[in-house]
Amino acid sequence: MQGQSFVRSIATRATQHTLNTGAKIPALGFGTFQDPESQEDTVSLALQNGMRLIDTARVYNVEQQVGRGIKKSGLPREDVFLCTKLWCSDYHPEDVERAVDDSLRDLDTPYVDLLLMHYPCTFARGSERFPRDADGRMIHGETTFVDTWKAMEKLTKTGKARAIGVSNFSKGEIETLLRECTTPPAVHQMEVHPYLQQKQFNEWLRSKGIHVVQFSPLGNMNDFYRQTGWAKDIANMMRVIDQPLLKKIGQKYGKTPVQIVLAWGINNGRSVIPKSVVDWQMEENLAADFELAEEDMKAIETLDAKARFNDPSMDYEWRLYSDLYGIEGTVRGRTH
Ligand SMILES: NC(=O)c1ccc[n+]([C@@H]2O[C@H](COP(=O)([O-])OP(=O)(O)OC[C@H]3O[C@@H](n4cnc5c(N)ncnc54)[C@H](OP(=O)(O)O)[C@@H]3O)[C@@H](O)[C@H]2O)c1
Repeated sequence: MQGQSFVRSIATRATQHTLNTGAKIPALGFGTFQDPESQEDTVSLALQNGMRLIDTARVYNVEQQVGRGIKKSGLPREDVFLCTKLWCSDYHPEDVERAVDDSLRDLDTPYVDLLLMHYPCTFARGSERFPRDADGRMIHGETTFVDTWKAMEKLTKTGKARAIGVSNFSKGEIETLLRECTTPPAVHQMEVHPYLQQKQFNEWLRSKGIHVVQFSPLGNMNDFYRQTGWAKDIANMMRVIDQPLLKKIGQKYGKTPVQIVLAWGINNGRSVIPKSVVDWQMEENLAADFELAEEDMKAIETLDAKARFNDPSMDYEWRLYSDLYGIEGTVRGRTH
């Protein structure tokens, strides 16, 4: 299910995947977590150079910059696939539409192509994004992710969100949604890279028609995973892109390890959303959509280390990823 509906300025494919809504989602996209001061220009540049999928979130505090970047690019809105995420303190069903309106106002657009529930855990309602008690422990909300999902389902009828999905859910949590709600998630955005391949879970999601968007596609590249309060020891293991195997495979194609890692995700039928605010890195990432031979795809499977870097379970007081692998060594700590 691939298309070639637009041409990148850098010679490469422009793969698209089809969501269970019938809409197309680009395989190669652009993340916007961190560096808010750079996001307006980098989003604009990314779009001008051929990126068509922009991933953001309410909690990243960059929606205004992203909205300005889209305008600055000069591209018509309908040429951009825009995804944002609802934050956990806005999960009460009565808050969902207002929260999305806030995002749309800041993004300066009448709709998003995809709205995700950022995590399955619900925080107490209110303006405090990380509501904590006197001991610093997260205060949970009284509703569940099922209540939130039902409100998101209603929202699709307003046209404000063309598709809805989840992020950071376990298999069991997605099964609950499938059982108790009517709209299946179009997307699960989750951590996937050669060190955390989640092969069975990916196959299961595919069998349910749920498209996977890989966050942190470069693995432990982001310093956040070494510096954050909930960093695990494994964040200090060799960076994915320093693996000699990736360099060796890259030599066959005249590509860098970064490009091999991104192409591996795309050739597995997923989307990847690397984040970069550096011009040459963005160009490198843009040229990462090409075919990898089956033998090379198989060889990359040997790198699976079941190493999950993004795990705020103890801070959020919710055992995330409970039925998935890579949850050993979770540490207590906080980022906000
Ligand atoms: N749903 C969730 O809970 C969740 C969690 C994490 C991330 N995300 C999304 O996924 C996006 C990407 O994740 P991420 O930022 O954690 O990880 P990432 O994209 O795998 O890695 C980003 C890091 O890699 C560097 N980088 C990017 N391209 C490079 C290249 N070609 N060569 C060398 N270094 C390169 C960046 O440097 P510079 O910044 O210096 O350019 C940055 O330090 C985020 O921006 C966000 O949109 C979602």
